[in-house]
Amino acid sequence: MEIKKNSPCWCGSGKKYKQCHQKFDEIYNQMKLKGHHMPHRDLIKNSHDIAGVKKSAEINTGVLDEVASKICVGMSTEQIDQIVYDYTVSHGAIPAPLNYEGFPKSCCTSINDVVCHGIPDENTILKDGDIVNVDVSTIFHGYYSDASRMFMIGNVSEDARKLVEVTKECMELGIQAIKPWGHVGDIGAAIAAHAHKFGYRIVRDYGGHGIGKAFHEDPIVMHIGSKNTGMVLTPGMMITVEPMVNAGDWKLFIDEEDGWTSFTRDGSLSAQWENMVLITDTGIEILSY
Ligand code: MF3
Ligand code: CO
Repeated sequence: MEIKKNSPCWCGSGKKYKQCHQKFDEIYNQMKLKGHHMPHRDLIKNSHDIAGVKKSAEINTGVLDEVASKICVGMSTEQIDQIVYDYTVSHGAIPAPLNYEGFPKSCCTSINDVVCHGIPDENTILKDGDIVNVDVSTIFHGYYSDASRMFMIGNVSEDARKLVEVTKECMELGIQAIKPWGHVGDIGAAIAAHAHKFGYRIVRDYGGHGIGKAFHEDPIVMHIGSKNTGMVLTPGMMITVEPMVNAGDWKLFIDEEDGWTSFTRDGSLSAQWENMVLITDTGIEILSY
């Protein structure tokens, strides 16, 4: 159905269509005709939604900064969880992981060969030489944010440090590969190329994701892939880039008892960094730290 130029735009901005998404729709429809995989309109955020997600992401960054300032040798992962919960709730927000599909805690804490979804626990104590990912997600006034960082505890081996650094570079290169009207496969291609240079392997069982009005929206953002393939990334979309990189093989197994904790099958170290990105008309904006 054709929208009239002076009618309100479909995005809910309240602006006239001709001053809002008319130009967007021209590009969108051309690409669709050429057979590209185009995002559903639900994934396109308007300026009101973008402002909402940014506020959520600001709190989420604050949580990670708070963890960064306190994390140390001898601390239990339960204590990290407590820091996350207290900071989030005192800022009027909700930790998104808590009770998410039965997840029992407010964040994920994944140490050494744990790839992701480690469950904070009072008996899990950070030791000298550990590398740990703290993955934090926040709901504020219905808007979701999600980011994670690695922390190196005390004196870390050269191998572990290298993995942590290269994984951060992978995330950054993945983000740099994003452009408006580009493809989601561009991200995985950039990330995998970098990791493979060091003999590392990329986890395939989990990916990044759209985010904003829900914790996990389309598309899935694989961290391995081919350029110019997959869904087109348009202005107004928000996604996470969160490569999990293993020093050894990419294969995983999940703890049968808790149903969550994901380990490298070969026991090798694994690292992860996660950030959120908004695609704009002219480029991208990084939304968390
Ligand atoms: N924060 C994770 C992500 O990056 C999701 C964790 S799900 C949870 O998507 F339930 F374990 F919290
Ligand atoms: Co995520």
